[in-house]
Amino acid sequence: MTTLVRGARQLLTLRGDSGPRRGAALRELGVVPNGAVLIKDGVIVDAGHARRIEKLPSARRAREVDATGRVVMPGFVDSHTHLVFGRPRLVDYEMRLAGASYAEIAAAGGGILSSVEAVRGMSAAQLETQARASLAAMARHGTTTLEAKSGYALDEAGELKTLRLVARLNGDPLDIVPTYLGAHIPPPEYRGKPDAYIDWMAAEMMPLIRRRKLARFVDVYCDSGAFTLEQSQRHLTNAWRLGFELKIHAEQFLRTGAARLAVEMEASSADHLEHAGGDDILALAESHTVATLLPGSVFHLGLHTYAPARALIEAGAAVALATDFNPGTSPTYSMQMVLSLACTEMRMSPAEAIAAATINGAHALRLADRVGSLEPGKQGDLLVLNVSDYRELPYYFGTNNVHATMKRGVILPCPQPLSSAYRISRKAVTPPK
Ligand code: NIG
Ligand code: FE
Repeated sequence: MTTLVRGARQLLTLRGDSGPRRGAALRELGVVPNGAVLIKDGVIVDAGHARRIEKLPSARRAREVDATGRVVMPGFVDSHTHLVFGRPRLVDYEMRLAGASYAEIAAAGGGILSSVEAVRGMSAAQLETQARASLAAMARHGTTTLEAKSGYALDEAGELKTLRLVARLNGDPLDIVPTYLGAHIPPPEYRGKPDAYIDWMAAEMMPLIRRRKLARFVDVYCDSGAFTLEQSQRHLTNAWRLGFELKIHAEQFLRTGAARLAVEMEASSADHLEHAGGDDILALAESHTVATLLPGSVFHLGLHTYAPARALIEAGAAVALATDFNPGTSPTYSMQMVLSLACTEMRMSPAEAIAAATINGAHALRLADRVGSLEPGKQGDLLVLNVSDYRELPYYFGTNNVHATMKRGVILPCPQPLSSAYRISRKAVTPPK
């Protein structure tokens, strides 16, 4: 099947070098006025000026998608999500609004451990209802590829339940890259024994996941209440020896040295970086590790320390943006909202934010040969927007400006299933003991 998207007032191709975008290149969106995209069997034949594209032989018989007056751009690549969590943490939210900190909520029985209890107790079918509703909302908001972490069960059965679910959801229709985040926090069974838990993951869990090809990346949360720098290094070394690619939740609440560890270990990305300092910025700038910024979590927690995006960009780091979709710190499906936060709170330009949310997200997932830009040979994953100038995308904050989401050349129906939470359990509104 051949599809011709035509009439775009601004076509953002994001074409460029094969590496992640840095410095001035992060601002180059490859804007084509009066653009068109020709897609055959899900793959882009060509994208560029309408006069040229419409003359291509296969364009004549193509089904047409009218994008007259609109912006057309690559689908968002959301390179950091905790997709599968069962139900929202509404009590945590109310406690925080009443003044409790993230650490106090966790100590009171909320936080990550309450999601662990929820995910362990729910069936795969219940988790699937939540995850599918979340994916539908993401697609409506323009995400066409995402990463999904496990890490809300921590035991063997629950982590396998999560990762198998992610494998089932992958390609239906969004592409989902699975990450094993067993090292989110030490589970209740290993309270006070995080090193023994790391040994168990190395000896049992990670070889199993690797054999069954259930994750491509391994991530670790390096912070107080989670894992120390030494533990993180040991865990990532174990993961690397087994053949996983690496990611780190780095410098979120405390400056731990995790960003520099990510660079030393050639991790694909160091994520969060709210408390990254001068040495971290220089190390990232000189590395291939993508600096993935997650301003949604700062916003939702009501905090004010955003990652130093300008310093990172000016030093030459490859900056990406992602939602960090999760029930504790960033319950948003919307990469558009992330763009607004990146611009207003971190002073990124609209062009930088769009490149960070597409092609650099693809690099953070090592998928840039397939997604992230509209170039011949890449997947026909694109958005037709309700705006005619790309700067309107972050400018109109809190609004969904996606007119159509296209995955491999097909417009997604984008239904709006009820957010599953209220159908699954009334426990969501019971305060933690
Ligand atoms: O990326 N900080 C660690 N992990 C998540 C939050 C998880 C949660 O609170 O459920 C994050 O912000
Ligand atoms: Fe996260």
